[in-house]
Amino acid sequence: MPSQNQMQSKPQNLSGKVAIVTGGSRGIGANIALGLAHRGAKVAITYTQSKSDAQAKAVVQRILTLGGSAIAIRADLRDPPTANKIVQETIQSFGPHIDILVNNAGVELIKPVQEITPEDFSLVYNLNVRAPILLLKEVLPYLRSPGRIVNMGSVGARQGFKDLSIYCSSKSAIEGLTRSWAAELGRAKHTVNTVNPGPVPSEMLDNIPQDIVDMQKANTPVENRLATLDDIAQIVAWLASKESRWVTGQAISASGGLAMY
Ligand SMILES: NC(=O)c1ccc[n+]([C@@H]2O[C@H](COP(=O)([O-])OP(=O)(O)OC[C@H]3O[C@@H](n4cnc5c(N)ncnc54)[C@H](OP(=O)(O)O)[C@@H]3O)[C@@H](O)[C@H]2O)c1
Repeated sequence: MPSQNQMQSKPQNLSGKVAIVTGGSRGIGANIALGLAHRGAKVAITYTQSKSDAQAKAVVQRILTLGGSAIAIRADLRDPPTANKIVQETIQSFGPHIDILVNNAGVELIKPVQEITPEDFSLVYNLNVRAPILLLKEVLPYLRSPGRIVNMGSVGARQGFKDLSIYCSSKSAIEGLTRSWAAELGRAKHTVNTVNPGPVPSEMLDNIPQDIVDMQKANTPVENRLATLDDIAQIVAWLASKESRWVTGQAISASGGLAMY
């Protein structure tokens, strides 16, 4: 996480904005939430497991300590009514508008195609693909122009990784949704973009086969390293700002050049 000095040095260019960050209890989402809050946004983070209660509270506390505003909402995004609950709780705390939606929560599945079951498909697609659709639908009536939608993809959306077909294809789907939503919502000045990280240290990365991560590091032009959480949070913060107004319908490779589009 960024140091207190780093936090205080951020420009307050999101002051007065309200953001929802799904999957904000840990990993990439927690840092995105902190990054937006440090720039002045009020942030609702979501998460799902009771074992993450303390981590979610810690993210909220960190923001409150810095003089910001944050709430944590525990809700399983695979459950369709959750989308409405998240939006209503956000409006009740920070209403009446929402300015930024970051669809970050996601899950990976490592299985050869021969073993994939219908339940596996639902496990991944109901979170990585269906939940952003349902959440955007609930957010739209409250989305203040110019709204910012940022989806979390992966370099896997455009690369083929062994045993990761369900995950990678779910990230291709979010790119497709991003382009169509950008086309639909542009008239209202809303922008919709996807950020495609390469490997980032997190609990999710711990489950990715080491040979894939080693290969990715070796093929990352910038310093042959993994991303830091802040590398990704900076890009999301820019996409959430007014300065990114002329960028929409894009998938931005956030990978130190591992994937070049
Ligand atoms: N890490 C990487 O190398 C990498 C690379 C490319 C793309 N990404 C993408 O970046 C995003 C964040 O990844 P990460 O590495 O930070 O993941 P992570 O450490 O596994 O964190 C996942 C987050 O999503 C939440 N979540 C999981 N299932 C949920 C559900 N059913 N309903 C609501 N929230 C749920 C988790 O909440 P709990 O704490 O309650 O479980 C947690 O906050 C994902 O979309 C991932 O695909 C990650």
